[in-house]
Amino acid sequence: MLNFNFQNPTHIHFGEGTISVIATEIPLNARVLVVYGGGSIKTNGVYQQVIDALAKHTWFEFSGIEPNPTYDTLMKAQEIIKRENIDYLLAVGGGSVIDGAKFIAAAALYEGNSEGNAEGNAEGNSEGDSEVNDPWDILAKQQAVTKALPIGAVLTLPATGSESNGNSVVTRDGNKLPFSSPLVRPLFAVLDPSVTLSLSDRQISNGVVDAFVHTIEQYLTYSVNGKVQDRFSEGLLQTLIEEGPKALLPATKENLEVRANIMWSATMALNGLIGAGVPQDWSTHMIGHELTGAFGIDHARTLSIILPAVMKVRREQKREKLLQYASRVWQINEGDDDARIDQAILLTEQFFQQMQVPIRLSEVDLGSKDIDLLINRLEQHGMTALGEHDDITLAISREILTKAL
Ligand code: NZQ
Ligand code: ZN
Repeated sequence: MLNFNFQNPTHIHFGEGTISVIATEIPLNARVLVVYGGGSIKTNGVYQQVIDALAKHTWFEFSGIEPNPTYDTLMKAQEIIKRENIDYLLAVGGGSVIDGAKFIAAAALYEGNSEGNAEGNAEGNSEGDSEVNDPWDILAKQQAVTKALPIGAVLTLPATGSESNGNSVVTRDGNKLPFSSPLVRPLFAVLDPSVTLSLSDRQISNGVVDAFVHTIEQYLTYSVNGKVQDRFSEGLLQTLIEEGPKALLPATKENLEVRANIMWSATMALNGLIGAGVPQDWSTHMIGHELTGAFGIDHARTLSIILPAVMKVRREQKREKLLQYASRVWQINEGDDDARIDQAILLTEQFFQQMQVPIRLSEVDLGSKDIDLLINRLEQHGMTALGEHDDITLAISREILTKAL
């Protein structure tokens, strides 16, 4: 096992009817900005529960954070933060809203690049003195976050794990970039499985597939004898394989136990626990981000297209773990090594198809003519040495994209 340090201080409140805890989780003297997305929380009753709980607080709201949140939208929140002296953010929504709140929280207290930023940046968006101290540098130049407003979260879509991690992904002019800081990890998160009943099948599928691929990114690498991490990961993968399809079937889709198991799996998949002390891959995600940035494809659907191709192109480097995955997750114990790996990849694809997500670029109307653009974007974003061995070059990313056609 590799050395690691691990701390996850997000206080989780899990269960039906738990949104009311925000009344006591957020200090009464805080000036709260409730941030949310396109309005689903107004039709499914979540907004009402939140404002009931905030009855004794001073609060304001900022809405309109879109899926794959954009820099331009998020920067608009700075005006109300300054005007109303906001000192606490409450994110109510899915990964996009929570990620958006993280960027808003860091941008509000961003003091800029100590070396100045007058020369412009690689994304071509900060030109000259007028843009010195542009918070976009947190992503484009990976400038360290040194301060951020405190954040609480009410999760409405189980998928990203954003509710209890320090990661955020923001898009500007088609450039979709991640940043990470423990300072933006939510202090608390409310996970009420009943609020997921208003999700569309498409969003449920996306969530299950995203959580599945998060687990794979931290598991399907090479063995360091991290038995606890491996078995936790295998448990999460099996739970998602078992429960995911139930959330789409008419007979079981309203079952709150199914929803609860999916919700907790998604949080556990990316709260830092299973990734501590083991190598991590993330090449599927980094290539997938370019598909979303360039073509607007849902995050999870980029992953279901790219992951099988990564498994195929990297089967030698991942051989030992692919065999373990075949045996422990899919109970494939017959046949020679290559046949077992082939079968595990096929079952992964079939699981994605059962979850109604695409597994090939052709299913989202992309073809070989689009690969050059994606490779250029990867290069522009410095994604030239991906994977657990930092050896997925642009040439190998091209091979992966070609395999995904
Ligand atoms: O905008 P609203 O009205 O809230 O509607 C949303 C949105 O249209 C809707 N929705 C959310 N909860 C609902 C609901 N509709 C009905 N009932 C509910 N209870 O669902 C739509 C999609 O929401 P979004 O937040 O975009 O989905 P998700 O949670 O999958 O987040 C995706 C974003 O997270 C990033 C992705 O790149 C993408 O930008 N990721 C963040 C990560 C992290 N922070 O660690 C890791 C991930 O790998 C991922 O990259
Ligand atoms: Zn993801």
